Amino acid sequence: MFCVILILVIEMISELSIKQNLTTKFMGQTVVFEEVTDSTNLLAKRNLSLDEGALFIANCQTQGRGRLGREWSSQKNDGIYMSLLLKPSIAAEDISKITLIAGVAVSRVIKESKIKYPNDIVINGKKVCGILCEMVSGESKNPAIICGIGINVNNQSFDKELKDKATSLFVHTGQKQSRVKIIGDFLCEFEILYEKFLSSGIPPIMAEYRQRCVNIGKEVIATYQNKKIIGKCTDIDDDGAIVIQTENEILKINTGEISIRGILGYI
Ligand code: BTN
Repeated sequence: MFCVILILVIEMISELSIKQNLTTKFMGQTVVFEEVTDSTNLLAKRNLSLDEGALFIANCQTQGRGRLGREWSSQKNDGIYMSLLLKPSIAAEDISKITLIAGVAVSRVIKESKIKYPNDIVINGKKVCGILCEMVSGESKNPAIICGIGINVNNQSFDKELKDKATSLFVHTGQKQSRVKIIGDFLCEFEILYEKFLSSGIPPIMAEYRQRCVNIGKEVIATYQNKKIIGKCTDIDDDGAIVIQTENEILKINTGEISIRGILGYI
């Protein structure tokens, strides 16, 4: 027991540690690790010629970026900051579905977590993981997709402005967690879901997404194209769209650019 705790306290991320027990076919089989980088999404963008499934990972980011232009706090040793390079042959409108798949994969790994539409992973109403997928046109005819994932793992506390909204696995469980194990488990789950998506589309994955989603049945405020829509989230449909019943109509919105809030707060 003492040995296990000691190993976890000093656990370092490296290409070797990630690849050592990795059982995937291609996800994470190429690893680019940097102790410090600006953003792993940017690191991936500088390496578009690498194979599909290449993993970019850092121990610390100086320009960690979130959705909707926000910053992503990326302190040394605390979290997982990683991005995957994907090269699927899919239509541009299907790209946002990759974030939904990544959300399901993270939620499978963090068993006590739920998904807040479209792709925040939460524990007890607080955010533990965020996902930022970006499309980049490289040299090949299909655009590449960079799927960036940030997980709060061993953060002991959060700044004043994040304290009420964010949590980490350490804050939740009181125990340090192995980032290497979480990364390996995530890569396995993501590969399974990604291959299913490529062969059969998103519908077979949406039943599980719905089970894990915290928004269904709740009153929500959706911010979308500078408009605020207030209503009840009645479903996340088989296409990955959020269905909102407003006073006057039923709206289906299917885009990565949407932001959802609860009427009284984050959820
Ligand atoms: C969000 O706003 O919820 C998305 C956060 C995504 C953060 C991750 S950390 C790894 C990758 N690199 C970045 O700069 N952002 C993503």
